[in-house]
Amino acid sequence: MIKVYDIKNRVCIVTGSGRGIGKEIAIKLAGEGGKVVINVRKHVDEGEQTLKEIQKLSSGILVKADVSTEEGRNLLFAKAQKELGTPEILINNAGVGILEPLGNIQEKNLELMFTTNLFSPLRLSEKFMKDSHGGVIINMASLAGITPFPGLAVYGSTKAALIGLTKYMSLEMAPHGIRVNAVAPGVVKTRMGDSLLSLMNLDDSEFSKKFTLTGKLITPEEVADSVIFLIKNESITGQIITIDSGSTQMATDYFR
Ligand SMILES: NC(=O)c1ccc[n+]([C@@H]2O[C@H](COP(=O)([O-])OP(=O)(O)OC[C@H]3O[C@@H](n4cnc5c(N)ncnc54)[C@H](OP(=O)(O)O)[C@@H]3O)[C@@H](O)[C@H]2O)c1
Repeated sequence: MIKVYDIKNRVCIVTGSGRGIGKEIAIKLAGEGGKVVINVRKHVDEGEQTLKEIQKLSSGILVKADVSTEEGRNLLFAKAQKELGTPEILINNAGVGILEPLGNIQEKNLELMFTTNLFSPLRLSEKFMKDSHGGVIINMASLAGITPFPGLAVYGSTKAALIGLTKYMSLEMAPHGIRVNAVAPGVVKTRMGDSLLSLMNLDDSEFSKKFTLTGKLITPEEVADSVIFLIKNESITGQIITIDSGSTQMATDYFR
């Protein structure tokens, strides 16, 4: 019989889960019986909506906290521990992507992307390792961290570093009973994905026809499915799953 890591009754933190990919991950975790901590930075209305959907399936709480700050990370863990119990699943999903070509990188955006996309997963995971008694961490990377995309040098570098960090975390956290994996999606149909396509002056079907083998954009639900798969399979650690609709197999001008 296949042994799976059971999500039921485990406390799961999903950073940046008011909308988009994080929201779908939170809903799927609740569907598996997990107790879910929803987190937003600004949009409390979106967090409340996600929480309502969670509560139809399982239990959960909403924590408004900026995970790019130490204060926000402490608050997130303190509320999770007090109201639900010790976290056993951590999804480092919160991220910001700003398109800025080299030569025009603004200091504040450089800092925002590195603190949110890299420093936050690192610090949250260290906290998780100290506080928990084992579990699973999933880092939300990006195809931009594997293949260069024009204008995404800083964003892509934060995600490339997160991929490297995932491998180191899997090694150093294994003795603590923690598995660590990452997912690296191409363009996903969310607010962030939509704004990238509009900057490329393409609609969904033009993009999909030109730059994917599957002829369709990736959905947040598909990304969330792969997160659940990685959590459940007890023999996978230190791996990066790429979900790119086959775009990296194509000889297109996507990356020029
Ligand atoms: N969409 C894509 O095409 C794509 C592709 C590859 C990878 N990804 C990655 O997938 C993850 C989710 O992306 P998405 O497309 O779902 O983005 P999204 O629609 O922009 O949603 C991002 C979520 O993260 C939250 N957030 C941002 N900064 C935060 C912070 N410092 N503290 C707490 N929450 C914060 C936002 O909350 P507020 O609005 O309240 O700030 C929002 O709920 C990101 O790491 C992104 O880099 C996305």
